[in-house]
Amino acid sequence: CGIVGYLGFRRADGVIISALKRLEYRGYDSWGVAVRDGNEIRIIKKVGAIGDVDSYSIAGGNLGVGHTRWATHGKPSEINAHPHTDCSGKIAVVHNGIISNFQSLKEELESRGHLFKSETDTEVIAHLIEESYRGDLKEAVIEAVERLKGSYAIVALHAEKDELVAVRYKSPLVLGAGDEEWIIASDVPAILDYTNRVVYLEDGDMVVLNRDGFEVWNNGTRVERRIEMIPWSIEDAERGGYEHFMLKEIHEIPKVIEDTLFEYLSEDIEMDASFSAGISEIVFIACGTSYHASLVGKYLIEKLTGIPVRVEFASEFIYHQPPMHRALTIAITQSGETADTLEAMRIAKKLGAKTLAIVNVLGSTATRVADHVLYTRAGPEISVAATKSFIAQLIVLYLIALKLSRLPGSEVNRLIDELRAMPELVRKVLEREGEIEQIAVLISGYENMMYIGRGIGVPIAMEGALKMKEISYIHAEAYPAGELKHGSFALLGEKTPVIASLVPDETYEIMLNNIKEVKARESVVVAVADEDDQEVEKYVDFVIRVPKTEHIFSAITHSVVLQLLAYHTARKRGCEIDKPRNLAKSVTVE
Ligand code: G6P
Repeated sequence: CGIVGYLGFRRADGVIISALKRLEYRGYDSWGVAVRDGNEIRIIKKVGAIGDVDSYSIAGGNLGVGHTRWATHGKPSEINAHPHTDCSGKIAVVHNGIISNFQSLKEELESRGHLFKSETDTEVIAHLIEESYRGDLKEAVIEAVERLKGSYAIVALHAEKDELVAVRYKSPLVLGAGDEEWIIASDVPAILDYTNRVVYLEDGDMVVLNRDGFEVWNNGTRVERRIEMIPWSIEDAERGGYEHFMLKEIHEIPKVIEDTLFEYLSEDIEMDASFSAGISEIVFIACGTSYHASLVGKYLIEKLTGIPVRVEFASEFIYHQPPMHRALTIAITQSGETADTLEAMRIAKKLGAKTLAIVNVLGSTATRVADHVLYTRAGPEISVAATKSFIAQLIVLYLIALKLSRLPGSEVNRLIDELRAMPELVRKVLEREGEIEQIAVLISGYENMMYIGRGIGVPIAMEGALKMKEISYIHAEAYPAGELKHGSFALLGEKTPVIASLVPDETYEIMLNNIKEVKARESVVVAVADEDDQEVEKYVDFVIRVPKTEHIFSAITHSVVLQLLAYHTARKRGCEIDKPRNLAKSVTVE
């Protein structure tokens, strides 16, 4: 999850380990460092946290690479930790990202006699460089990278070369240019102890770093990249310059969607749906935000596949123990450690159900309890309020629903193409952050709010209200819009603004009616609606526009709007956003 390369005059082991520590906030389960020592490479790899930087001594050399790993392929272990080496042990590689065609590359390399030690996708890179190496590391890396599909930031070294070669594609990489020393890393905090002169590398850039300095190449041509002075403190830099992790994580959503789609829609990998064989119904179990993702899942699966779906709070399921005849249990959990969800999974198994877990943290307990696992690729989420992990859960649910759907193949393909456009559409939502912030300021003085929707808009509203409660401490309730008249109307009025999620599907007209009813009770209404919706503005006080998409995908665009609305409301109220009172990121007690 974090990479570092150092070439300079200090001992590389100390610099690299302390730089890795600066990347700890990104989360990791194991780590490792390789240092060039004469014409050899010395490596240490460890599972767990780094702890005391001064307690390690690897070698006196002043060139090396390091890595903190957050497992994606293969469990957390010393063998799977980076750096990875080739057969000769002369080449060491650290990598961030996902190599989507690693399975076929691995088979190809094995057929030519390469022996693999780890389960990682990264190890193929070391072996590819080995095959291409004829005395020139840069040329070998170019040849190796041509074979890779996926996303990567890579730093490679060769035991006999006083140089580092790094390359990036769709994974971040920055170069710190100090005096007679250079440090390359996946993020700025790793660099700031040594220099604030930073080069942001672009997609396809390759950096060759030696005692003469650095050169950047892109597509076979030498390119110039500007050195920028970073004014941030280390704490600012950890949040990528954002004021809070929550905001940083919301802005990571386009990338998270890309990575999660990539996991299941790239050339080599297709979603394995064997978990669905012979099932007659699906039962979701989850807590919190993951529960809301489950409700979206129910809507999608019932609509697209005809399979009946139930959604249960994990904490209720444990005591309720409903009949589970030929059921598939889908547990959704970001952390994979929520005690209620784990216990519910164990009970579901005892009741005879098959279990599938949708999990973000590889190697977590849920992945060991479940019969099948599908990973979300949200990366570590630090803010207590879940944002990017929720969207990643939705992506996996869309893929499951489409995989099991009864729609004709051409229609499934059309919807998948629409899904592939979502990162771009979310970027457009993020561009409207200023407008959302203005509305947040206007509603931040209220103490009660009502969120409403219909159909897929109901779980969107529930998750929107949860975000608002968690971080702004405003009491926010979510209701199916049609249910308001059976009681909650009594709460409406000028002290209770209503946030309405208006999805352009079969519920649209009746939702408009509901909004008119709400407006008649003098509540301020904020609608989230399509950019070309001319009707809604006649009835509401404010409209937050989202780009037009297939209506089932509105859950993504609307949720990002509601996350930003909650964030800016909480910010205006001066709340401690990343660590709200009384809440924990992962609740490991029942
Ligand atoms: C805690 C967190 C929530 C989260 C819930 C379920 O309550 O504060 O944000 O949705 O746990 O967590 P899980 O890791 O199982 O998705």
